[in-house]
Amino acid sequence: MRMKEVLISEEKIQSRVAEMAAELKHEYEGKNPLILCVLKGSLIFTADLVRKMDIPLEIDFIQVSSYGNGTTSSGEPVLKKVPSIDLKDRHVIVVEDILDTGATLRFLMKKLIEMQPASLKLCTFIDKPERRKVQIEADYVGYKIPNCFIVGYGLDCAEQFRGLPYIGILEEDE
Ligand code: XMP
Ligand code: MG
Repeated sequence: MRMKEVLISEEKIQSRVAEMAAELKHEYEGKNPLILCVLKGSLIFTADLVRKMDIPLEIDFIQVSSYGNGTTSSGEPVLKKVPSIDLKDRHVIVVEDILDTGATLRFLMKKLIEMQPASLKLCTFIDKPERRKVQIEADYVGYKIPNCFIVGYGLDCAEQFRGLPYIGILEEDE
């Protein structure tokens, strides 16, 4: 598959991440926030964000799968990896690559609230508001984009393209 166009350049990504990091630094300084990176897509965004936040913080990982039993896509999300750090009374920031229909994140946020954090916020680099099927909004959004399938900066197509430093749109299949 070939790249059709660059939607968000590396320079634009990095300057927006710096703005988001500055906002988070301002709000979370002195709170030792727990950054919850949602695997695998937000690995790269999380790594860039925490390096620009420049405050004491902790990092943990969580993984959600949309597939019930591996063969059939039930659409029911399943928690595949739970955080190893206790969320109770912590200021938790969930870091996501993309908010699409919202089903995954609504499920995830509900699970996390049960773990009784002191506060829980959602930070997503990309938001596709047109695609939303369930009611959920992110507290921090990098870029809002129209409805198109994107890759790069952690986002994949069949596990490829995650390492690209920019976000692009692939050529349609013939
Ligand atoms: P929902 O619909 O639950 O899904 O908000 C969010 C998950 O869907 C994947 N997703 C994408 N992955 N390019 C990708 O590489 C896209 O344009 C895209 N849109 C949705 C992604 O795994 C995300 O966590
Ligand atoms: Mg994916």
